[in-house]
Amino acid sequence: MPFSDYRTALVTGASGGIGAAVVERFAREGLTVHAIARSAEPLKALAEKTGCVPHVVDVTDRAALARLTSEVAFDVLVNNAGVDRPKKFLEADEGDIDLLVDVNLRAVLHLCRMVVPGMAARDRGHVINISSIAGNYNFGGNSTYHATKAGVAMLSNQLRIDTFGRRVRVTEVCPGRVATDIFAHVHGDSPEIRERFIDGFELPTASDIADAIAFAVAAPVSMNVGHIEITPTLQVMGGLQTAKPASPGGGEAR
Ligand SMILES: NC(=O)c1ccc[n+]([C@@H]2O[C@H](COP(=O)([O-])OP(=O)(O)OC[C@H]3O[C@@H](n4cnc5c(N)ncnc54)[C@H](OP(=O)(O)O)[C@@H]3O)[C@@H](O)[C@H]2O)c1
Repeated sequence: MPFSDYRTALVTGASGGIGAAVVERFAREGLTVHAIARSAEPLKALAEKTGCVPHVVDVTDRAALARLTSEVAFDVLVNNAGVDRPKKFLEADEGDIDLLVDVNLRAVLHLCRMVVPGMAARDRGHVINISSIAGNYNFGGNSTYHATKAGVAMLSNQLRIDTFGRRVRVTEVCPGRVATDIFAHVHGDSPEIRERFIDGFELPTASDIADAIAFAVAAPVSMNVGHIEITPTLQVMGGLQTAKPASPGGGEAR
């Protein structure tokens, strides 16, 4: 369905990174784009640049989401807002678990609940869920994040089943590392963090991800791009570790 068949889009997590790039791209394609985030200033700047409609809203504010989605019939929904609090699960923090579930998964479920039935009734719509390679592969230190993103991945599959027979398309976008400020937001902004995650690596940019999303949206109506995994060429997932049991004295044998 070309962009011209859609009129409105809702993008969460739009104050920077992938969300802001998607807003810019969709606005260029002629959609009226509603942009949600908590940070007022970057949203205002994005609105001045792109003409998007800014909403300073926390995605956990269900009443605000319900108001907005009852006022506008959205053709495209991009569930992009996301947070991480990396930690080994053995040291998991109660508040971190709630935050990640609330932002990464609960808000996505509720927005789909609010928006997708209208899409099905109008026989027109596209849901883009930004998950992560963390939803499909294991690597250390982010277990709650993995769990929430796996939930988003499975929800994306289920939405296809539940809207069967309607022209509601669902695309799960699974990024690996992308050059955004997410690492500064998660670990704090410092030269060490930029060195660890960004500097010197060849990484996709937020606008590269937005271009891939635009490809899925611009595809013919007869075509659903269900899953897009995008990693740096120089990033691979997987690995195998085997440990010997801890020694009787309590020390770790490896
Ligand atoms: N960058 C990567 O390497 C990478 C890899 C895999 C997956 N992803 C996923 O891609 C998505 C976008 O990530 P990004 O790299 O663009 O991250 P980012 O630069 O940190 O941007 C995250 C966005 O989410 C918004 N957000 C966070 N909490 C929110 C809340 N409670 N309510 C509303 N908005 C909220 C932030 O805005 P405010 O703070 O202003 O609210 C910001 O606009 C996330 O779902 C992330 O998990 C990213």
